Parts: sequence; C-alpha cells; structure tokens
Amino acid sequence: MKTLLELITIDTKKAFRESGYDEELAKVTLSNRPDLCEYQCNGAMAGAKQYKKAPFMIADDVAGYLKRSPCFESVDVVKPGFINLKLDPEFVASYLNAMASDGRLGVNEVEMPKTILIDYGGPNVAKPLHVGHLRSAIIGESIKRIARMKGNRVIGDIHLGDWGYQMGLIITELKKRKPELPYFDDQYEGEYPKEAPFTISELEEIYPTASAYAKEHEDYREEALHATYLLQNGHRGYTAIWNHIMAVSVADLKKNYRRLNVEFDLWKGEADAQKYIPDMVQMLKEKGYARYDEGALVVDVQEEGDNMEVPPCMILKSDGAALYDTTDLATLVEREKDYHPDEVIYVVDKRQELHFIQVFRCAKKTGIVPRKTELKFLGFGTMNGKDGKPFKTREGGVMRLENLIREINEEMYKKIMDNRTVAEEEAERTARIVGLAAIKYGDLSNQASKDYIFDVDRFTSFEGNTGPYILYTIVRIKSILNKYRESGGSLEGKQILAAGSVYEKALMLQVLKYNDVIDTVYEETAPHRLCAYIYDLANEFNKFYHETKILSEEDETRKSGYIALLVLTKEVLETCIGLLGFDAPERM
Ligand code: ARG
Repeated sequence: MKTLLELITIDTKKAFRESGYDEELAKVTLSNRPDLCEYQCNGAMAGAKQYKKAPFMIADDVAGYLKRSPCFESVDVVKPGFINLKLDPEFVASYLNAMASDGRLGVNEVEMPKTILIDYGGPNVAKPLHVGHLRSAIIGESIKRIARMKGNRVIGDIHLGDWGYQMGLIITELKKRKPELPYFDDQYEGEYPKEAPFTISELEEIYPTASAYAKEHEDYREEALHATYLLQNGHRGYTAIWNHIMAVSVADLKKNYRRLNVEFDLWKGEADAQKYIPDMVQMLKEKGYARYDEGALVVDVQEEGDNMEVPPCMILKSDGAALYDTTDLATLVEREKDYHPDEVIYVVDKRQELHFIQVFRCAKKTGIVPRKTELKFLGFGTMNGKDGKPFKTREGGVMRLENLIREINEEMYKKIMDNRTVAEEEAERTARIVGLAAIKYGDLSNQASKDYIFDVDRFTSFEGNTGPYILYTIVRIKSILNKYRESGGSLEGKQILAAGSVYEKALMLQVLKYNDVIDTVYEETAPHRLCAYIYDLANEFNKFYHETKILSEEDETRKSGYIALLVLTKEVLETCIGLLGFDAPERM
C-alpha cells in the first residue's frame, strides 16, 4: 500500500496542477511546527520566482483545491506562503485500519530486489569475543533484518578471522606443552585423533599466554611465524590442529551469537578465500594492474582529485605472503563467483576505513567486481566507558563480551526483582531478554559512525530513551490487552475509530508514520532512526494511556476502537524491535 506521505503528496500534486502550477512543487513533509500543523508544503515559496507571484497568492490558489481532498481536516495558508495541513481524523482511522489488515503493516517490498551480502561480526577464531565485535554484530544484524524485510535477498556472512598469526601462536604453544602429540611428528602418517587436544577454556587461555610470551621472546615469535607459514602452506599436522581450533571455537561462537539473537547465513572465513589468491595474483600481473615496489607486489589506487594520500593496495609481501588486503580481495572474488551480489556492506570499526577504500578501489579497477556493484563501508565508532576512553574492565583489561552481558543481566535482574511483578524463577529469564534490549538499544540508538558511552545505569533504566523503557511500554500494552481478553473481550475484527482526543490523535499520527520511517531507515541504512521513531511512539502511547480510561470506558464501540489501536501500536512496536534484533517479555 502507499505510505501516508505518498498518498497526501498525490492530492497535493493534483491541487498544484489544477490551480495551474507545476506539480513538482508539491513536496509535503512532516511539520517542523507540530504546534501549528501536522504536515506542511512549502512549494509556494519555491514557485514564487518561476511564476513571478507572491508565495502567499500561490499558496492560496493551491489551498482552494486542496481543501477538497478527503485527507485533510484543515488546510491553512500562513505568511509568507506555507501551506499547513492537518489530517482528517476519519481519513487517519481508515488508513490505520488498512495498515492493520495488511500483513506487512503497510510496508512495501522494493520493486527491484537486490542481492545484498553483509559482512559483519568478524570475530577472530581462538581469541575471546570482546566488546569491539559486539557493535559489528548488533548493527549488522539489524541492517540485515531491515534489508530483508524490504524484500531483498540478504546474506549475512560472519567472515571469521581464522587465518592469521594467532593460529601459529596456538600451534607453537601447544607444541611446547604437549610435544608428544602426533601433529608434531613429521614421520607420522596415520590418522589424527578426532578429539581436539584442548577445550574452549584451554584454548582461550593458550592464546593470550602465547601472545604475551611471543612479545618477550624473539625465538618463540619466529617459531610461531614459521608455524603460521607452514599452516598456510598445507602442513598436514598443523592443518589438523587448525581444524580442531575451528571446530571448538565455532561451536563456542555459535553459542555466544545465539545469545545475542544474531544469526549468520554463512560461516565463511579468511581461510576460505585463500584458494582464490593464486589466480587472482596471476590476473593482476598479466593484465598489468600490479607492479613490484621494493619486492612487494602492489596495485596503485590513488585517484585524481584525492585530497589525501591513498597508499597502494598490498597484494604480496616481498617474502610472498598474502596480507589483509589480499584476503579481502580474494573474498570478493569468491563472493562474486558464488552470489554475484549487487551490494556488499562491511560493518567494521571505522578505523579500518582506509583499508576498505583501498580494497574497494582495487576491486573495481581490476574488474574483480563489476563497476556497478555497490561496495559500502559502514564504519562504526568506539564503545567507550564512562571515562570517555575505550571500554575496559574494572581492572583495566579488555572487556570480554560474556562479562559485559553478565554485568548488564545482573543489573537488570535487580531492577526486575525490585519491580515485583515477576516471580523469581521468571526474573532471570526476563532479565536476559531485557538485558539484551538494553545493550542493543543503547548501541543502535546512536548513529553508527559515532563513538558512544556504554553506561550500564542509563542503559538499564526503565525511564528515558532506553531499551527497557520501550519493552516496558510493550508489556504495558500486552497487559491491558490481556485484561481485556480475560474479561471476555476479543481482539479480533475491531475497527479503529476517528480520534476522540488530542492524545489519541497524536498516538495515531505516530503509528501512521511507520511505513515512511521504515523506508527512510532502509534507504539510509540507519537503525538509529528506527530507535528514534519507537521512542516517540512509546512516548505518545504513554501520554495517551495516562490521559485515557481505556478498559473502564463505558461506550463499548469507543472501547473496542481503543483496543484496535492498541493492537496495532503493539504490532508496530514489536515489528520494530524485531528489526533491531530483540524481543519483549510477557511481564517485567
Ligand atoms: N576480523 C577483523 C577484526 O577483528 C574484522 C573483519 C572485518 N571484515 C573484513 N572483511 N575485513 O578486526
């Protein structure tokens, strides 16, 4: 169905045409003076020059025709030439009823669905997940859900960091601890054990120990680098260890991401791209894109008009080793072959922007991806602690994701127990649901590219612009609807009526914006705008709730109109939080 803005723009265009003006002037927007009107059109001002007329006169002409539209209760012309619009309450109610009976709540699918690949998450295998990976997971998951609901074919790829030096470190440390294992015996030709020689907790301890040790001991570092080299060149025993590391870590990662309500369609990683490197390198050389620079193979990506230096893309080091650039390019080769995406979106820390500028330019220049493929970098800012510095544990170490989640959940648990509406057994589960909303909303309500302060007290508050406040509002609606049902009422087949109060109309106007908002959020890849929308919606609902006797309303028709409006408000809110990647509990 058409969005409300589309509908009223049609009538406004018609009014411009009928009064003899260019319909292109008929741009309608939400009012920036909500005290005066709901929507406005400033086209008369824009047309003044073209028609050599005072804007006020043009506005007057147009308003004469616009008053005939069934959309508006009032059309007022205000100097110097604004057309101020208020929607007709009957029209609003009928639009909302149409939304309520549409399975997609009035949101259209895009006309030309795209194949969109989203590269997000990006955890490094065998290293614990830390808060830096949290943002990528949260933002990526949300934009994936939004693009998918608009009807695109969307593929989420975790793109594991599974091919680096950390693997060499683990192999070296394991060799030091258990030299008797068959993986280290070059004469060994039998099958390797099925069982991994470590658990996930051992693995998580091995990596930091090895990493710290290598920083102090040059020979150990050399050995780890060599082990990395051997692994990358197909060493049989090391490949078997690598497979163990992968199996153990991936199982753990899956558990962690499931807790975050984050799901990937593909669990590919840097290692999968390696087999595309030799042909790619050959192509780059043959077609003359690559050149040697002090022994290293590079592709120039500086472009005319750059006002900064963009260093060449590094393809091979002088020792022949592949680099981060190489892997990302080879991954694009693979993605092009397997999915032929129209768009690839990378949700990565904004400090990696230069790397992606280089990779994108190189991929386009050398035809690894077609020119028309959109390569987008969605760089996010840092999550800081209250001191404004990158988030740390109380002891000053890197905060592990698990601990951060635990901290939030404990705080949530306390608040929920204080509220006393939930039994103790249920409180823990509820705390997890609300805790996740606190984390995700706290993150997504900020524009992704900005740094933000992770503030446990603020994020877990039931008041203000927070996840728990949104959930609290949904729970409130659910509880009213439950009471209505318990007293014998049915939620089906009810019609929303023309608003009877300013509060009811304000709530309706906010619900009405839903599909226009979704379109903007999708076009701008901006989940923070969805958060802003549901915050306003929750506020309008709560004002309405405080000013209206809903269940004690005596006029049954009016009461069922309220119920219908509540059902729709709840559906809109729940769909929106689903797009943000969290759910609401039954009680809290
Ligand atoms: N593993 C990387 C890191 O932790 C992020 C990967 C981002 N994605 C990519 N295609 N480079 O920094």
